[in-house]
Amino acid sequence: MSGTTHDDMTEMGERGMSRRRFLKVAGLVGVTVAIGGGGYAAATWAPRESEELLRETMGEGMSKVLVVYGTKSGCTAGVAARIGETLAEEGLTVEVVPAEDRPDPSGYDAVVVGSGIRVAQWHGAAKEWVLDNAAALKARPVAFYTCCLTVATDAEDAGKMEEVRAYTDPLIEESGVTPVELGLFAGWNEAKRFSLPERLILKALKAPKGDFRDMDAIAEWTRGAAGKLGVA
Ligand SMILES: Cc1cc2nc3c(=O)[nH]c(=O)nc-3n(C[C@H](O)[C@H](O)[C@H](O)COP(=O)(O)O)c2cc1C
Repeated sequence: MSGTTHDDMTEMGERGMSRRRFLKVAGLVGVTVAIGGGGYAAATWAPRESEELLRETMGEGMSKVLVVYGTKSGCTAGVAARIGETLAEEGLTVEVVPAEDRPDPSGYDAVVVGSGIRVAQWHGAAKEWVLDNAAALKARPVAFYTCCLTVATDAEDAGKMEEVRAYTDPLIEESGVTPVELGLFAGWNEAKRFSLPERLILKALKAPKGDFRDMDAIAEWTRGAAGKLGVA
């Protein structure tokens, strides 16, 4: 699922945002912050805007779908909202809930769960939610999605997209939950949404600035996923 093209993206596209490169740069910034007294934890901390962690109910259909999301900057909350709206337009009742709220998936016909990415990994709260609810998730159709910058810069590079797809493999393996679909979405690099260490990491990577979420592509993916989830 490719994101909006952007002039500034050329440089990062050429350099690539490989997992190795993210790890290296995050490590360097982490060490710098540690010297300054913040520690690596500070490098992955981002301010949370509570109004962006809203829980929403949409639609009035017979089938009920739970959409869960993990975010740090708010980017993936917007992606989850678009997924929810699309499912509601398809005639379903949808609840969009942050992973931190630990919703119980047992009352739903299907689940869509996803996360933003930090250093090639899902956020802790989203991972934990999948692992804690693995039994209920194995008993109903589930789709996964991720939201990151590699999809914004390297959507045409099949190897890079395999790398992004692999961000979710450890969770699939550990939880035993096999998604019917895995959506790969472009995220954002909005400076005001990230902490200083995070901005330094993205600057060192020469990440392009902007909001690369392609809401039409997300809606299209969702309509396809609804069919595979057996709820549309
Ligand atoms: C510290 C840090 C590490 C990141 N690591 C990756 C990465 O490994 N791969 C990637 O494609 N994007 C990476 N990104 C980009 C984010 O996934 C992207 O900005 C996303 O939109 C964030 O959404 P969220 O805040 O909802 O998680 C990273 C961003 C930051 C700040």
